[in-house]
Amino acid sequence: MTARQDITNAVEGAALGEVAAHFAGPHPIVVEGLVNRFGDHVIHENLSLTVNRGEILGVVGGSGTGKSVLMRSIIGLQIPQAGSIEVLGRSITGDGDEGDVDIRSRWGVLFQGGALFSTLTVAENVEVPLKEFYPEIEDELRHEIARYKVMLSGLPAEAASKYPSELSGGMRKRAGLARALSLDPELLFLDEPTAGLDPIGAAAFDRLTKELQETLGLTVFLITHDLDTLYEICDRVAVIAEKQVIAVGTIPELLATDHPWIQDYFNGPRGRAAQNSQERGRAVKADQAVKADQAVYSDQTGTAASADDASGTMDNPAGGEA
Ligand SMILES: Nc1ncnc2c1ncn2[C@@H]1O[C@H](COP(=O)(O)OP(=O)(O)O)[C@@H](O)[C@H]1O
Ligand SMILES: [Mg+2]
Repeated sequence: MTARQDITNAVEGAALGEVAAHFAGPHPIVVEGLVNRFGDHVIHENLSLTVNRGEILGVVGGSGTGKSVLMRSIIGLQIPQAGSIEVLGRSITGDGDEGDVDIRSRWGVLFQGGALFSTLTVAENVEVPLKEFYPEIEDELRHEIARYKVMLSGLPAEAASKYPSELSGGMRKRAGLARALSLDPELLFLDEPTAGLDPIGAAAFDRLTKELQETLGLTVFLITHDLDTLYEICDRVAVIAEKQVIAVGTIPELLATDHPWIQDYFNGPRGRAAQNSQERGRAVKADQAVKADQAVYSDQTGTAASADDASGTMDNPAGGEA
């Protein structure tokens, strides 16, 4: 072997090593035959779903159809009765593989309602996963990473030292997003991120999600019933009904099916409005979203509430924030 080949091999080996650290397969999430039950209440019956790497997958379904339970199963917080779940090539449902602990550092989650710690500042919230997974990182570097994630989420630098109660609903969502991004995840789970936001705030959050997906190369599992979100940023949409994923595809593909729930949902008055709005107004919306982003900066001075809800509980875990 020539010296030149040696060097080439070494470089290729190093490059492969780098790539191997990130999941390079086509399907970062594969769910097969999932069964979830609470007592007699069957939530999922033989549910299967495959997520493509790099896509934003919208997940829709009526209230209580098990969207959040599905997400919790995928991230290992809900142990299913049957079925298999693979995330980033690793089994979530297999028995106690020690290696599974650090797989949690490769995804970020924005739970329904945000679930920030109310007694911690935004920056401290962002630092929680860093402390858990990388205790060896020194304080100053950790603060620096947190500040960077806060800004990446479209919050002004000053927001880092605010408490959740001092922030508007839209800013809390961004703070939750900053925390979800704290460990540079490959996968981002968002559970109804625009619920409770006004349409402009929701459009701005959508745009941010899309930008992050593109620039960071994320795969996004996005539970929503916001039709605008589905039209604007989702590559495909999975529909949960009758305890299963009844269809998955682009919106035109879904519209071509004759399932009554899908037809009602996408072709009902709200679906049509979202479709028209998308056809008419991407530019207008983007412009409004920029204004909403700017408004975030003035927001924090206007709406600051007292910071003394020192309950030590999660901020508004049930969701439905204003
Ligand atoms: N920990 C739990 N114990 C019992 N029932 C639950 C639990 N979590 C969720 N459920 C039930 O499972 C169903 C699906 O819930 P969920 O996934 O939160 O619905 P959604 O699609 O609105 O997110 C609901 O009927 C809910 O009441
Ligand atoms: Mg839910």
